[in-house]
Amino acid sequence: MALSSSWAAKGVVVTVPVLVLSASAAAICLFFLLSSLSSSSSSICTCPVPSAAVSTTPVGGAAYGRFGARISPTEEDVKWVKDQIEANGLYMQDNILRKGINPRTRAQQLQDLIQFKGISHYEGEQSSNHTALPCPGELLVEEHHSNYGEPWAGGRDVFEFLADSVHLAPDARVLEIGCGTLRVGLHFIRYLNPGHFHCLERDELSLMAAFRYELPSQGLLHKRPLIVKGEDMDFRKFGSGMYDLVYASAVFLHMPDKLVWTGLESLVNKLKPYKGRIFVSHNIKFCSRLGGDECTKRLNSLGLEYLAKHTHDSLLFNHYEIWFEFRRSKA
Ligand SMILES: *[C@@H]1O[C@H](CO)[C@@H](O)[C@H](O)[C@H]1NC(C)=O
Repeated sequence: MALSSSWAAKGVVVTVPVLVLSASAAAICLFFLLSSLSSSSSSICTCPVPSAAVSTTPVGGAAYGRFGARISPTEEDVKWVKDQIEANGLYMQDNILRKGINPRTRAQQLQDLIQFKGISHYEGEQSSNHTALPCPGELLVEEHHSNYGEPWAGGRDVFEFLADSVHLAPDARVLEIGCGTLRVGLHFIRYLNPGHFHCLERDELSLMAAFRYELPSQGLLHKRPLIVKGEDMDFRKFGSGMYDLVYASAVFLHMPDKLVWTGLESLVNKLKPYKGRIFVSHNIKFCSRLGGDECTKRLNSLGLEYLAKHTHDSLLFNHYEIWFEFRRSKA
């Protein structure tokens, strides 16, 4: 596996191609700025312009995440989008949208996909050899975005919370235990360097959704995440590299305590000493059920230390998630 080459590389290196890219992005932005000046429409220039070229706001929303700085939106970002919503006269009554043009439910969309063949679709023999990665209709209409009950958008909240908590940089190594349909994982995969996101997942339908729909449709195939089907906290397929972050979102509470402990035992040695973090959501009953002292003792015997409990508010809905933070306390 070619995943080990840059495990040791640390720090931010701005390579020449990046600078060239930034310069050309700046040129493109300038073009759009100039062309939008005449049309008076508000320019949405989200190109990754180096700060020297940005003269308006202090920290541009899209630009600063990529060099390992803050990842979640700033107060200015939120104010900006609220201003845009108001400026465009978008008012909601009781947080309910009016119906769209020809609205379709997922079920109706799926029926459309099966039933209707427009004149621009391939027929007969041709119908099977023009699509490189044919995807099941259920995935195309995004039924899997409702698989786990929680709003899909909440995946971004989890990513922002975890990423900011560990000061995530693109060269960090991350392991998710149970990444499901990549509701959270997509954001890590997009942000991290290729090969730096790993995941153990046992549910086949979720893995289908990840490989056949999410990664290709989000343009993330080049990020080569290592997503492995497996159960019982078996991490042997992940090589010997060390992780900066291991997290389990709503997973441990569905597992027998014994299995969680088995998993933690094998994970400790994969976590960077002191700096590496394990984050567990919802509750840590696998530990607290033992009683406070016994819980601490058991963690310490594995070389783990409980650090803190956090809550994190959602950006988009009335919801907060609870997270428990651990670190590896021995080298
Ligand atoms: C698909 O198959 C048809 C019939 O065999 C053939 O004529 C056509 O060239 C093929 N198209 C592609 C893109 O391979």
